[in-house]
Amino acid sequence: MNRQITLVKRPTGMPDESCFKMISSAMPHPANGQVLVKTRFISVDPYMRGRMNDRKSYVPPFQLNEVLNGGVVGEIVESKSSSFVKGNIVVGNLGWQDYSVAEAKDVRRINLEFGPVSTALGVLGMTGLTAYFGFLEIGEPKKGETVVVSGAAGAVGTIVGQIAKIYGCRVVGIAGSDIKVKYLKDELGFDDAINYHASTDLTKALSDTCPNGVDIYYDNVGGTISDAVITLINNGARIPLCGQISLYNEKKIPVGPRIQPLLLSHSALMQGFLVRNYADRFDQGIYQLAEWLREKKLKYSESIMEGLENAPKAFIGLFVGENLGKQLVSVAHDGNEKKLKKDPATKSKK
Ligand SMILES: NC(=O)c1ccc[n+]([C@@H]2O[C@H](COP(=O)([O-])OP(=O)(O)OC[C@H]3O[C@@H](n4cnc5c(N)ncnc54)[C@H](OP(=O)(O)O)[C@@H]3O)[C@@H](O)[C@H]2O)c1
Repeated sequence: MNRQITLVKRPTGMPDESCFKMISSAMPHPANGQVLVKTRFISVDPYMRGRMNDRKSYVPPFQLNEVLNGGVVGEIVESKSSSFVKGNIVVGNLGWQDYSVAEAKDVRRINLEFGPVSTALGVLGMTGLTAYFGFLEIGEPKKGETVVVSGAAGAVGTIVGQIAKIYGCRVVGIAGSDIKVKYLKDELGFDDAINYHASTDLTKALSDTCPNGVDIYYDNVGGTISDAVITLINNGARIPLCGQISLYNEKKIPVGPRIQPLLLSHSALMQGFLVRNYADRFDQGIYQLAEWLREKKLKYSESIMEGLENAPKAFIGLFVGENLGKQLVSVAHDGNEKKLKKDPATKSKK
């Protein structure tokens, strides 16, 4: 049987576990041109919250009583495609389930030389690429500039801050606990970090630690945190608008200060983006991120929750800051992780 997690109720406000249900269905079988993938790791991501609303957006909403889907790393256990053989490790957009059937064109082999397979969902996957392209393409960092990152201890934020250090910037992170602040400063080399939960006056705390103002604000969270940072921008500041997680569970979007006069008077750029805008350059991004990992210029952290049944819990945890770095769910761990370091060569049936 194939265990699957479905969405049974659309959340209003903060999601809870009653929105999800685990079901079992018959094992799927691949047809010609398809592969059967055994799930190893599932990525839970904040954007999925938007897909749980019945609202048109840049990705269609999840349907009620259907299996949720997102980034998955898995092992090919049956192939009816000449592009893959049994044992290949792939990444793709697949279901929250033990086994998925996928069109061969919809999954991509992972380069196992670059890092453990789980990294294909984090630092060498969607979130690493989001950090890389959003920061470099919109942030356009210059040596000596001051960079502020919100959501700094998360999957995207941890990578943005370290790339900023590689580019010679002064980096200040904003995160939700003292442990996260310590991690950012002691492990990842951030110049400073602020626990926004413990700060009574975030604008003052930021202006104390950014005496020369803010040149780049990488915005992962929006809301009042971003309101505070934006009051400190310098002339020509760049604001890559990556995420607004503080607003994803709001039933009515709160109205904040009008920031346009600040953007105008500082000739600042605020630009929203989706990582998929850079899809044709993903290989280049993965290669560079892997190179920085190899050179030990980049570190990453993963919070791994065990068991498919815990995927909803892991997802909900994103909205209360339970993760440090990339939140993943491990599925079907059978002690064969070492085996995943070897990927059988694909035989072409030409
Ligand atoms: N534009 C794109 O293509 C793209 C791609 C990927 C991700 N994103 C966005 O980037 C952001 C980060 O994503 P991620 O995958 O790296 O997630 P993440 O940062 O690993 O996890 C979410 C983190 O957000 C923080 N958070 C939760 N609720 C918050 C609130 N109300 N106020 C402030 N912080 C809050 C929590 O950390 P604390 O403990 O610090 O509160 C939590 O750990 C999200 O907004 C996501 O939607 C955008």
